[in-house]
Amino acid sequence: MSNIILIGMPASGKTTIGKLLSEKLPDYILIDTDALIEKTQGMSISNIFKQFSEDYFRKLEHDTIQTICSSGDKKIISIGGGAFENPDNRAALLKFGTTFYLKSDIDILYYRISQDKTRPLLQNENPKQTLLNLLQKREDNFKKAHYTIDTNQIDTEEIVRFILNASNIKSSN
Ligand code: S3P
Repeated sequence: MSNIILIGMPASGKTTIGKLLSEKLPDYILIDTDALIEKTQGMSISNIFKQFSEDYFRKLEHDTIQTICSSGDKKIISIGGGAFENPDNRAALLKFGTTFYLKSDIDILYYRISQDKTRPLLQNENPKQTLLNLLQKREDNFKKAHYTIDTNQIDTEEIVRFILNASNIKSSN
């Protein structure tokens, strides 16, 4: 399967790397599970959390991932930061393509999200601690990805090159 799957914490660069990969691979479809959920529900992720619940969002996320993973080839998929926690999601994604964990330092993640009000799990008194707790809780599962890329060490072009090589995909651009 020549699908590429990007996983990692909020603000780890999944969206940015997904877009860069998609420029290199014009015949690939770029799918961001959060954007797809917002489109199908006609509602922002924060409103889904507010008006329904996190559990409701997780169910939508699960259904979205199962649908994507039962479709065909040539996809670049970027998933929400909590999606790889669900064992069904993990199993489906690990089978559907090559998975890449974009690993970032907590300080960098926090710096990037500190001005952002769109991430419902981090709208509280101590978002940095929340982020750290989430990272510690999730890291073992993130590391089940086929590859871990330390994004603090290399620039975005190198990350893209690494992903293309590891997935054995030739870029036409
Ligand atoms: C979440 C991350 C968000 C989004 C939702 C929950 C999480 O996606 O799926 O707010 O549990 O970490 P990003 O990782 O794209 O911010």
